[in-house]
Amino acid sequence: MMSNKTIVLTGIRSNGPLTLGNYLGAILPLIRLQKKRQYQVNLFLPDLHSIISSVEYNELYNNTLSTLRYFVAAGLDLNDQSTFIYRQSYIPAHSELTWILDCFSYYGELKRMTQFKEKSTHDDNISVGIFNYPALMASDILLYDAEFIPVGEDQRQHLELTRDIALRINNQFGDLFTIPKTWKEQLQFENLQNGIRIRSLKHPENKMSKSISDPSGTILLMDDVNTAKKKVYEATTDSYNKIDFNFDTQPGISNLLQILTLIQDRPLNETILEWRGKSNYGELKQCVANQIEILLNEVGNKFNSITDDSLTETLLRGESAMNVVANQKLYKVQQKVGLRPISS
Ligand code: TRP
Repeated sequence: MMSNKTIVLTGIRSNGPLTLGNYLGAILPLIRLQKKRQYQVNLFLPDLHSIISSVEYNELYNNTLSTLRYFVAAGLDLNDQSTFIYRQSYIPAHSELTWILDCFSYYGELKRMTQFKEKSTHDDNISVGIFNYPALMASDILLYDAEFIPVGEDQRQHLELTRDIALRINNQFGDLFTIPKTWKEQLQFENLQNGIRIRSLKHPENKMSKSISDPSGTILLMDDVNTAKKKVYEATTDSYNKIDFNFDTQPGISNLLQILTLIQDRPLNETILEWRGKSNYGELKQCVANQIEILLNEVGNKFNSITDDSLTETLLRGESAMNVVANQKLYKVQQKVGLRPISS
């Protein structure tokens, strides 16, 4: 049953195969958090967000399941009573609250979102869904009174917008929503100075992305081991011949150090201490490649042993519990804005 624990909520989109970046930046931290058993974890699959631009629609349903399968392969406990796993589109309140939040969001503030700006300069025919993306994301968060939202640096603006919209509505109607923590508090919570941002191995100034086609810079969880290792060996570095952790001057090397420290689950400082000053980039690459080999083998083996039925069963359980919670919140909002009677 529902607990009084602080809620940690995150969603991971399945509009392509999962990358090492997703694994290290989103999946692993969440599993480590679940193991602490201190929080209520809401892990959801934002399938409505997946269709903001054209995707392989006939594959989306299964890709969504497959994303969850990777979480389980990575160690997510499906039976933990404080974890709720669900698909966004199975809880209609997400869409309904989005409309209401839209009416309290400004065109000007949505227009300023970097993700929207980047997409709209490359393409005139982008969907209104892309524009509206942050309002749906705000609903995802506000429906459940979530306080901690572990997301990458690229989602920071959306999180801050969520706070702004929630504060605006609370100011007008009283305490309706729990305000998610500030970005700084989110980082403290995750024990990070900066959001984790795994970079492309080929173009380490960019994020390791599944949407940009950068096959040699991106390690996919479904890559075969040798292909993945080759990407590490051929990773772009620099000509300093001296290992240091500085994303401004040595993004490639810093990226490798970051990958290493996350896989090994060690404090970044320790990893830096071990490698700083060394000149043999090959040795570092070899070490990272070995770690990735172990990881891909482990995850791959487990992945194949998980049945669709166990996933669907977990989802249905999460969806039935979260529909209740979401509908209660939605109803309160509907009452405040005059769409439902105020009960005495
Ligand atoms: N926008 C997130 C991403 O692309 C996914 C997402 C959707 C999300 N809704 C969310 C993350 C709510 C956290 C909370 O990575």
